[in-house]
Amino acid sequence: MTRLSSATGAPHATILGIGSYRPDRVVPNSELVEAIDSSDEWIQQRSGIKERRFAGPDESVQMMSVAASRKALDRAGIEPAQIDCVIVATVSHMLQTPAIATAIGYELGTDKAPAFDISAACAGFCHGVALGSDMIRGGSAKHVLVIGVERLTDITSLSDRGTAFIFADGAGAAVLGPADEPGIGPVVWGSDGEQFDLIRQKEDWRDVLVQDRPEMPHLIMQGSAVFRWASFEMAKIAQATLDRSGISVDDLDVFVPHQANMRIIDAMARSMKLPERVRIARDIAHQGNTSAASIPLALDRMIDDGEARSGDTALLIAFGAGLAYAAQVVTIP
Ligand code: UT7
Repeated sequence: MTRLSSATGAPHATILGIGSYRPDRVVPNSELVEAIDSSDEWIQQRSGIKERRFAGPDESVQMMSVAASRKALDRAGIEPAQIDCVIVATVSHMLQTPAIATAIGYELGTDKAPAFDISAACAGFCHGVALGSDMIRGGSAKHVLVIGVERLTDITSLSDRGTAFIFADGAGAAVLGPADEPGIGPVVWGSDGEQFDLIRQKEDWRDVLVQDRPEMPHLIMQGSAVFRWASFEMAKIAQATLDRSGISVDDLDVFVPHQANMRIIDAMARSMKLPERVRIARDIAHQGNTSAASIPLALDRMIDDGEARSGDTALLIAFGAGLAYAAQVVTIP
């Protein structure tokens, strides 16, 4: 049998730079309540959301991704041509094919690097970080650009009471690279397809096209079932992630859970018994739920505000449709 040589990579991977893009238009709860017979008070009390950002016509998935990536590349001190792979996590790129990652890489100038999209909904960014980290350690890439981006307003019905006030738009990006010390801990990830229907596109495209008056099949969610799953199960995943990285809550500086609901964030922090001094991402109040973009957006805000500092240890945990989840401990660049 012919023996093949195999690639070997860096001993460890780390995040070198983070960037994000927030659409210009701020949408307060008051703009949405009439269509869903709700109130600013109800939305704030049940979700913690005060306002969110909706993308305008020029703020496409590609445009937001490129803007977030340029900031991340700049902070990392890496040129686009040094990127060996572009991974885009999204559920709102509206062409079935080709992957938007290829167009983003081309616009950035990643010099024909491999580029592909992944679909893991709100857990997509943490899936991308896990893949990128393993590629760097496995030798198939030296620098990887991971983007989480959504224009959820394209697939959200503003008259759907269960989702209209939740979903929003934006992009976040991270440049990953080789390191002598671990800067990205082992991922803990999984899925529960038995709960496939809890958050989903309402209909299959083929069923939409045979309707007399076809409408965009928007997102629907069984909110309270997802809420219970996230509040109870994700705290266990968070603890398992700390265990796999060989650390405890006492070693954490920053906690960045998926920005789905302020009450879920608080419930997780309570279950994990997070020490008071751990800074917790609460971007949801001003950004809503941006699915794959929520974690890098929240992290970037904390870096900009000085709440997350270089060298800090942060736990990222993302969960959503699938139901899919992924979590890892990272060092803030
Ligand atoms: O990103 C992916 C992961 N997603 C999540 O993690 C989302 C998790 N779920 C949630 O965040 C919450 O379930 C929601 C914020 C979506 C809803 O909050 P809830 O506390 O679970 O509300 P509920 O659906 O249990 O409804 C409570 C009450 C009901 O009235 P009754 O039956 O108690 O009289 C609803 O009819 O609130 C009513 N309601 C509303 N009222 C005003 C439901 N939606 C609305 C609304 N405005 N938009």
